[in-house]
Amino acid sequence: MKKLISIDGPSASGKSTVSRLLSKKLGWPWVSSGAFYRGLAYAVMTKNIAMDDENEILGMTTSENWKVLMTPEKTQVLYKGEDVTSAINGEEVGAIASQVSQIPSVRAALLGRQRNCFDPDRGLIAEGRDCGTVVFPTSTLKIFLTANAEQRARRRSAEENQSADKILEMQKKRDQSDSERKASPMKAAEDAIIVDTSDMDLEAVVEEIYQHIQAKMS
Ligand code: DC
Repeated sequence: MKKLISIDGPSASGKSTVSRLLSKKLGWPWVSSGAFYRGLAYAVMTKNIAMDDENEILGMTTSENWKVLMTPEKTQVLYKGEDVTSAINGEEVGAIASQVSQIPSVRAALLGRQRNCFDPDRGLIAEGRDCGTVVFPTSTLKIFLTANAEQRARRRSAEENQSADKILEMQKKRDQSDSERKASPMKAAEDAIIVDTSDMDLEAVVEEIYQHIQAKMS
């Protein structure tokens, strides 16, 4: 069985935290595919490129200025060699990332780089919106992680030190544009297992997914 797991779901559903913990347990690397859209969004913002200038945005997908690196703790984004991961983690850059991710040519341009994160010898846990449907449709196990919107906003507001109401409003917009866009919208793959974490603690979520992985890999 291929050592390849995809975990998709809406913003702040806990995908990165769960992926990081599973990565520790399994000894496989993990990647946040959203880091590619955030990195691109940051480059676009820094260069003051207009959001309707598709050609310029597409041009930035191959810019040497930004890079994505996998580490055990996080998927790092470097801009001109500087680690900007924390700076681009919030809802503001998330909203721009969501906007650039609507453009089909941009998605196609980033796909190869996302797929290159998988090394069959090392394995991979890939998280995002379309990892099970488009980036890695042959994943051994596909998880769709979700939780009710209020719960997700509360978790994110604690991390970001912003009001839960403001986060909730921004998240709703982002979830809507991510799930309604034409190009690879966020959705559970037909063969995905849906895990609703609204009433689960983190350890229970990790344990449940770990059990599914063990069952598939044995
Ligand atoms: O997972 P995240 O919050 O870092 O993702 C930021 C945005 O990137 C998200 O709102 C939509 C886009 N994205 C995507 O279109 N496809 C993915 N596989 C991952 C993220």
